[in-house]
Amino acid sequence: MILIGDCREQLKTLADNSIDSIVTDPPYELGFMGKKWDSTGIAYDIDVWKECLRVLKPGGHLLAFSGSRTYHRMVCAIEDAGGSAARFFYSAKASRKDRNDGVANNHPTVKPTDLMRYLCRLVTPPNGTVLDPFTGSGSTGRGAVLEGFNFIGIELDPNYAAIAKARIDKCKSK
Ligand SMILES: C[S@@+](CC[C@H](N)C(=O)[O-])C[C@H]1O[C@@H](n2cnc3c(N)ncnc32)[C@H](O)[C@@H]1O
Repeated sequence: MILIGDCREQLKTLADNSIDSIVTDPPYELGFMGKKWDSTGIAYDIDVWKECLRVLKPGGHLLAFSGSRTYHRMVCAIEDAGGSAARFFYSAKASRKDRNDGVANNHPTVKPTDLMRYLCRLVTPPNGTVLDPFTGSGSTGRGAVLEGFNFIGIELDPNYAAIAKARIDKCKSK
């Protein structure tokens, strides 16, 4: 399921303690390729992370990507929301074949499906539900469904949400 809209509003529609894991790739706040959504400061918004922690089951994990120049500010926001942050890794971008699987994908920051599968598997119990409040073109959703998990995505831009749906549906047919 993909909810279209601002995650600050859409997260409020989800029940307390209803999500097994959050695997997400928020804006890096760099204005990447001139994208407005990448410079609003939402990754540093403590209220967003408070909502994520509210819907996450006790003991659940939140995995979040960020940029090497800005991640420290996101980490502070997560900590100020009541979470804690540990373990940092680098990640590659998706291959052309992976990014365009099922649909022409013009999202600029697509993550590799195999990596998202691994991350979802790492932090989600069998039959669990994975949430991504910054879905983009749906790489977390692809990883989640390929591993047999339920997926709830939230995406502000309806065009990206449509691409995400097509890319996730392609995985369901595999
Ligand atoms: C870094 S991209 C995610 C890319 C994704 N991992 C992929 O593989 O395609 C961040 C996404 O967050 C979305 N976004 C930005 N602000 C948002 C908000 N307030 N609520 C929901 N989505 C938002 C952007 O439209 C963008 O698609």
